[in-house]
Amino acid sequence: MSTVEDAVRALRTGGLVILPTETVYGLAADAADPDAIARVYEAKGRPRFNPLIAHVSDLAMADRIGVLDARAHRLAEAFWPGPLTLVVPIRDPRAVCDLARAGLETVAIRAPAHPLAQAVIAGFGGPVCAPSANRSGRPSPTTLADAMEETGAAATAALDGGPCAIGVESTVVGLIDGDARLLRPGGLERAAIKAVIGPLSAGTADAHRSPGRLALHYAPNAPVRLNAEAPMAGEAYLAFGPTPDAPAVFDLSPTGDLREAAANLFAMLRAADRLNPSAIAVARIPDHGLGEAINDRLRRAAGWVG
Ligand code: TXA
Ligand code: MG
Repeated sequence: MSTVEDAVRALRTGGLVILPTETVYGLAADAADPDAIARVYEAKGRPRFNPLIAHVSDLAMADRIGVLDARAHRLAEAFWPGPLTLVVPIRDPRAVCDLARAGLETVAIRAPAHPLAQAVIAGFGGPVCAPSANRSGRPSPTTLADAMEETGAAATAALDGGPCAIGVESTVVGLIDGDARLLRPGGLERAAIKAVIGPLSAGTADAHRSPGRLALHYAPNAPVRLNAEAPMAGEAYLAFGPTPDAPAVFDLSPTGDLREAAANLFAMLRAADRLNPSAIAVARIPDHGLGEAINDRLRRAAGWVG
């Protein structure tokens, strides 16, 4: 098991670190080091057109690397540290290297809340890029064991922060040219953002393209069947709400709580997949609150979204 000091040393010497955050586990590297960032893309099998999130300790570090407008500041003050990523124009293109930004003139920034992530970034003293620690296209890891299984072989240090409290990735909001837009629903609900800066623009404008939103993503090996009232023979089942115990049935939340369902989502998708079912059937999940992020991940796991 590695310590925070091991992790900081690994980052300083160009190594990769399995890093717990409150959303999902990340595979971290020095944002300014193109060689280390290249190894992150390689370890994930990630296409190089898909940029990474720079993780910072606080708003002051964010202001050094990006140009945050008034609304970006309000959001950061309200929700950092926490599950919110802001995409803004780049200020210091060396602090977050070209490869980490996939050559874009913008940069995605977030301050994670997990104490281990905070300790590592503070100890390192600069931004750390950390995509989710899964191989590209697979479900994100929410435990150290799942992260190690995905990309552990490429890491020189790995920190155990326990199971991730939120369980889905951060909400990504673009704040460019005076426009505020939801690029990825996630661990911070849309309504919370609206309460601070008003409604977000709908759809994806060109300047805000989130290049990582590929059709088949977060996918287990088994096919995924959505809005299923019950499993068919040979299927595993992800239930939501009170459900009788049965083999191959995993209840995302027996009480119908969307936060609990988000926290269980990826771990249960993986557990269901390990049974080698003919498919993973998933109950209908309400679309409000964290349900927006859960349904986004499920549609992508099923290969529905372009
Ligand atoms: O919760 C999270 O955000 C986790 C933890 C580890 O912090 N990280 C994460 O990173 O989910 P990743 O790389 O799996 O997802 C980053 C998303 C991708 O959809 C990517 O396309 C988008 O952020 N993104 C990054 N930079 C961008 C930019 N400049 N413009 C638009 N989208 C960007
Ligand atoms: Mg990811």
